[in-house]
Amino acid sequence: MYQHKFHIMPPQGWLNDPNGSCYYKGSYHIFFQYSKDDVNGGLKTWGHYTSKDLVTFKFEGEAVFPDSKWDKDGAYSGTAYTEDGKLELYYTGNVKHKGNYDYINEGRGHNCLRVVSDEGFDFKDKECLLENKDYPSNMSCHVRDPKIFKKDNKYYMLLGARTKDSKAAFLLYESDNKDSWNLTRSYIPKYDYGYMWECPDYFELNGHNIFSFCPQGLESMPDRFANIYQSGYIDLNKMDIINTVDEELNQIIIKENLVEWDLGFDFYAPQTFKSNDNSTYLIGWAGVPDAGYGNTPSIKEGWQHSMTLIRKLEYKNGKIYQMPVKDIYKLRKDKLLVVDNNIQADLYWNLTADMFNGGCLYFNDDLELRHEDDKLILEFKNNTGEGRTKRIVPLSELKKLDIFMDGCIMEIYVNDGEYCLTTRYYPVSDLVSIKVEKGVNVNAWSMD
Ligand code: FRU
Repeated sequence: MYQHKFHIMPPQGWLNDPNGSCYYKGSYHIFFQYSKDDVNGGLKTWGHYTSKDLVTFKFEGEAVFPDSKWDKDGAYSGTAYTEDGKLELYYTGNVKHKGNYDYINEGRGHNCLRVVSDEGFDFKDKECLLENKDYPSNMSCHVRDPKIFKKDNKYYMLLGARTKDSKAAFLLYESDNKDSWNLTRSYIPKYDYGYMWECPDYFELNGHNIFSFCPQGLESMPDRFANIYQSGYIDLNKMDIINTVDEELNQIIIKENLVEWDLGFDFYAPQTFKSNDNSTYLIGWAGVPDAGYGNTPSIKEGWQHSMTLIRKLEYKNGKIYQMPVKDIYKLRKDKLLVVDNNIQADLYWNLTADMFNGGCLYFNDDLELRHEDDKLILEFKNNTGEGRTKRIVPLSELKKLDIFMDGCIMEIYVNDGEYCLTTRYYPVSDLVSIKVEKGVNVNAWSMD
């Protein structure tokens, strides 16, 4: 009942981070952390989807397997690099040695591996490019999730890390040929930034250098960092992570400057990629590791988690706006009737609301989205959130909402993408009655 129609989900079992997203030889490729035989996430392979339009996706099976001594306990996250007609995947091979270890400072290998393909399928020539002994000696075993990029004819590899004394860090390696890599920077922020950074990303948007990462170990506040682990970006503006000295980065890489990508309950480990027309898109995992809330209804159906919609990034008004890829609106089918400020819907729809300041939307008796006292509040009223409770976005002016419901995932886009909230929502039946406060102008469509 809760399966998705227009979000990437695992055909069976477990899904986490998006990996290796790219445009290559006329198609988009999106890989993901996959445990097809374990709905709670066991040994990770890379599952593989392709797409022509970023709205419909074809499952292509599994692309990367933990079949070597360097990745025997999981083919962990990583990114793609395309050049000379080849699609290369760089990722972390996870190894857990048998014994009585803490698996943080000892007992674990995190190797940086590469596989290559000529057509985007059938990945071969697995090589180990870096292993733990190549990382600085003050790093714990946790060094992972490589991002590859090129700048001024040099290749760079950015890795997230945890130091031996549990401080977050990133490492930057450089190379002339992508085969041998030399450490060029080991950055540990001066001011407290948690104990680990996962899934680092680095890209340019409208002349701004953007550093995106997933800090673990930040203290939660009611309207910031509310999830167990965060996911956000720092706008470095003209500074870059290659040449800017530590003292300068330390002024800007501070918690206060972290802009969270999504303020809902279910978002983590996003990565960006370029489209064929050089636009920048972001895809995130609609889930969070170790969250206190669950997904029992989808687990009962034999699957857990999915991706967000593919979001186009635009730099406006000094920040990044995210809106779903335009073609998603082509999936709108029938217009839903609004009768006495009520819409009767199933579990697949898109709703827009205009000039909504001060209003409220009610979904069954389960979930409320209301704007009051300069805050947008998303609140579950019963257990259809499976333990999810309340999320708050500080927001003085609410102009527009664009909401997508797809089985058991809801994505809420606020003010044309100024804020996003992603949440699981498990209505007890396949009917959702949407009640709208008077004065709110809504339109809704069923989605195919
Ligand atoms: C983030 C993460 C990555 C790791 C992968 C393992 O969710 O923990 O750091 O590579 O998941 O599945």
